[in-house]
Amino acid sequence: MAVNPVFDAPTLIATKRDGHRLTDASIDWLIDSYTRGVVAQEQMAALLMAIFLRGMDARETARWTTAMIASGERLDFADLRRNGRRVPTVDKHSTGGVGDKITLPLVAVVAACGAAVPQASGRGLGHTGGTLDKLESIAGFDATLSTARLRDQLAEVGAAIFAAGACAPADAKLYALRDITATVESLPLIASSVMSKKLAEGAAALVLDVKVGSGAFMKTVGQARELAGLMVELGTAHGVPTRALLTDMNSPLGTTVGNALEVAEALEVLAGGGPEDVVALTVRLAAEMLALAGLDTRDPAATLSDGTAMDAFVAMVGAQGGDLSVPLPMAACSETISASRGGTMGEIDAMAVGMTAWRLGAGRSRPGERVQAGAGVRIHRRPGEPVSAGEPLFTLYTDTPERFGPARAELDGGYRVHGVHDVHGTPAAPRPLIIGATP
Ligand code: URA
Repeated sequence: MAVNPVFDAPTLIATKRDGHRLTDASIDWLIDSYTRGVVAQEQMAALLMAIFLRGMDARETARWTTAMIASGERLDFADLRRNGRRVPTVDKHSTGGVGDKITLPLVAVVAACGAAVPQASGRGLGHTGGTLDKLESIAGFDATLSTARLRDQLAEVGAAIFAAGACAPADAKLYALRDITATVESLPLIASSVMSKKLAEGAAALVLDVKVGSGAFMKTVGQARELAGLMVELGTAHGVPTRALLTDMNSPLGTTVGNALEVAEALEVLAGGGPEDVVALTVRLAAEMLALAGLDTRDPAATLSDGTAMDAFVAMVGAQGGDLSVPLPMAACSETISASRGGTMGEIDAMAVGMTAWRLGAGRSRPGERVQAGAGVRIHRRPGEPVSAGEPLFTLYTDTPERFGPARAELDGGYRVHGVHDVHGTPAAPRPLIIGATP
């Protein structure tokens, strides 16, 4: 193997460990060498921790993103056509939340309104669920698409959700390493991870859903605004109009957390029902995407009531080998947590619920581990809803019942039922779902 005379991993790790900047050329070398397996996993793990602790400035983050894009193919759908007419492409990406199944109905709504959505997705990261893990709970669903198949599917169906694969392969490798080395919650690493895949996948415009709160990687509005600003700048610098919404992630979205459970809830939304917050966020993000795609005369909400979004979803899943007539997997075991007293449900901590689902088997603790499709949490009473003593508040699902103990311990303290004469006061008013936008 050729030895690079200029750079070596131990020196770059020490540079960042000691709080210095990485040069453009060293970042290019590092990402390329890591993608090719020249820089070892343990060296990159050490560097990621140094970046987590020391950060990267805007210039380092921009170069890191560009190097990750250059690690693979950058797709281009500028000439995409259906029936001889050009089809605009647009995508959205969420920075990760609990119960965040929005991508599933959203791509179908936007496709039903006439745009095409090439959605490169990831797997679960930390306590947050991954769109690919969710979709793979549908029998036969295949997330690996060749570029030619992706192009055909976008032209015919208007949507595809696929493993980033050839787009930004450096991110796929880093993403899996961050997931198991406690280095996820880093602003430059999140920004470069999201934007490298999204810029490589070839969408002409991009909407970002930057989550804020206990269940998000960004805990404060200030951090989320900084992340949103950085990602919008990266998108703009690469010629892709990008807009970010800041949305609340203190409580889980909807009433289910876990792979197959969330697919079932997404299908309810596509059938015209489903939880209010999931519907509202889907419609709002769709409106933002359609505006960027120049299709803002379409009413996204109408596609949920008239069945056209459901048709688009069924067509997309079918094109990727999925069979929705096969029942979704169910966990072998369940346990219910009931209210010890009556009152009103207070806030439900999204992080506690995300960790509960993870402990039940919905996420990974080792690289490449299989997730349990049926594992997760169903929420029966949401913040602000009345609760009677003895009624179910949560149902926990897993195939491996020894997980119930640790899962219950995660959920314990993550919610409260407020009694009428509670000395701790009444539940806080519900928080707004949309907190702000950039630009
Ligand atoms: N989504 C990504 O693609 N990467 C991250 O680092 C976080 C959320």
